[in-house]
Amino acid sequence: MRVTIITKLNLFYFLALSFARSFSGNEDVVKRYQFPDKFFFGTATSAYQQVEGAYLDDDKSYSNWDVFSHIPGNIKNNDTGDIANDHYHRFSEDIEIIHSLGVNAYRFSISWARILPKGKFGEVSQSGIMFYNKLIDSLILRGIEPFVTIHHNDLPQELEDRYGSWLCPNIQEEFVYLAKICFENFGDRIKYWATINEPNLFSQMAYVRGWYPPAHCSQPFGNCSAGNSDKEPLISVHNMLLSHAKAVKLYRDEFQQKQGGFVGIISSTDMYEPLRDEEADRQAVIRALAYNVGWALDPLVYGDYPLEMRQYLGSELPKFSPAEINILKGSIDFIGINHYVTAYATDCIHSACASGCDRPIQGYVETTGERDGVPIGEPTGNPKFFIVPRGLEKVVDYIKDRYSNMPMFVTENGYSPPVQENEQVKDLLNDVKRIEYHNAYLAALARAVKNGANVQGYFVWSLMDNFEWTDGYSVTFGLFYVDRQTLDRIPKLSARWYKNFLTNNTSQIDGDEDLNTNQNAIVSLLESNRLEEI
Ligand code: BGC
Repeated sequence: MRVTIITKLNLFYFLALSFARSFSGNEDVVKRYQFPDKFFFGTATSAYQQVEGAYLDDDKSYSNWDVFSHIPGNIKNNDTGDIANDHYHRFSEDIEIIHSLGVNAYRFSISWARILPKGKFGEVSQSGIMFYNKLIDSLILRGIEPFVTIHHNDLPQELEDRYGSWLCPNIQEEFVYLAKICFENFGDRIKYWATINEPNLFSQMAYVRGWYPPAHCSQPFGNCSAGNSDKEPLISVHNMLLSHAKAVKLYRDEFQQKQGGFVGIISSTDMYEPLRDEEADRQAVIRALAYNVGWALDPLVYGDYPLEMRQYLGSELPKFSPAEINILKGSIDFIGINHYVTAYATDCIHSACASGCDRPIQGYVETTGERDGVPIGEPTGNPKFFIVPRGLEKVVDYIKDRYSNMPMFVTENGYSPPVQENEQVKDLLNDVKRIEYHNAYLAALARAVKNGANVQGYFVWSLMDNFEWTDGYSVTFGLFYVDRQTLDRIPKLSARWYKNFLTNNTSQIDGDEDLNTNQNAIVSLLESNRLEEI
């Protein structure tokens, strides 16, 4: 038995090696030396149920996602993040696997309900603070720079129940309080703070489509029991941006000088190309970029929303007071770029479009991943994400030009394979496509850097397969496979590739002795026949 297992493992590595040979024959193989020496290479996760689990351990209260995911039908297969990857209890093991990749940075987020179970209405949880202290200390001990996102989709349900969270200006003081607790308790060791993850995408998901809690929407976008898809996303982003600006003011007034860190925000940054070779579609691209990238970032650099949004949304778009403009303007030290999407954009001012796209809230733009039935790139596990590496280079160039080349980090970029019926574990582990994806996106990023873009880091989404929001565990972005029964973490081929890219400046996938390979877990998968014969 043992002999068979070893033979199978060897075969697995043989496949990896033969892949490495053919892959390194490719001219576009990216090399570590194409990036500056001090460049951060990392992986990313987020707290909530994406990895932490332990949803009611110690003092933690219900988050909005705990409540939402417990409602049958909200999440694929009715998955929940109650346990997720149990990172709360297994963080030491996770730091070992992070370390084994050879990365010099790790991005994670704080669970609001874990450190402030009732927001400002309750006490600070010392067990929550202790958890993040241990995580931060262990990372630093291994020379890994912690990048902290203060808020990534999850908040205490209490704040939703009391006043509707992001729809109410009260949330601004709540967020500033959360940030203050973070700066006070972790700021002596954290040099990179991102206040909020993707206000723009979050508001689309939660208040236009109604797919994320609090599941608000109105026709024609969806059939929710509450909401107004034309107005609420604008209000929620407004409150998020003011929360950010007030937290940054606090950091700059009271902490930055002694702690010496930087604060930024993370935006979902999609790239667009005209669907038709027509001026109307080129204008649609300009509007789509303003509505996506500019919505979250223009106010923080220039103090107001993009002109295109004012033009089409008129009085629906909230206004900033002069005092607010004052704190918003220049309130980021860096821009976090989450990039997954490049799509075609087409005009809906002069042409008929799908329902909803012909409205001011969508900028009169329809976006699509196909032209004449041909996809813009290879499909992935998310119907909106296609493999279009040039999109990263273009969006970085766009941000560079629009915001005077301020420091940028690619805080998320990653691949999930199309979901197959009866997926074989061996196929998930042998993730050649993910390697090709990261190689191609990094090569595109290297071109942007070579052309002067001030990008200072790249984080693979994600360290390990995790709770992918409404897709539950069916969509997998990890460099490490997580066995849902044992929660063992097993490196995929891409983990070996990333390590070799970082440590040997090569795309060879052999020489993985130092990688935390969890051989026992692979053996037990083989024995239980869950890892099929290769
Ligand atoms: C989010 C992540 C998510 C990823 C992949 C990003 O928008 O920040 O939490 O898992 O997309 O869908």
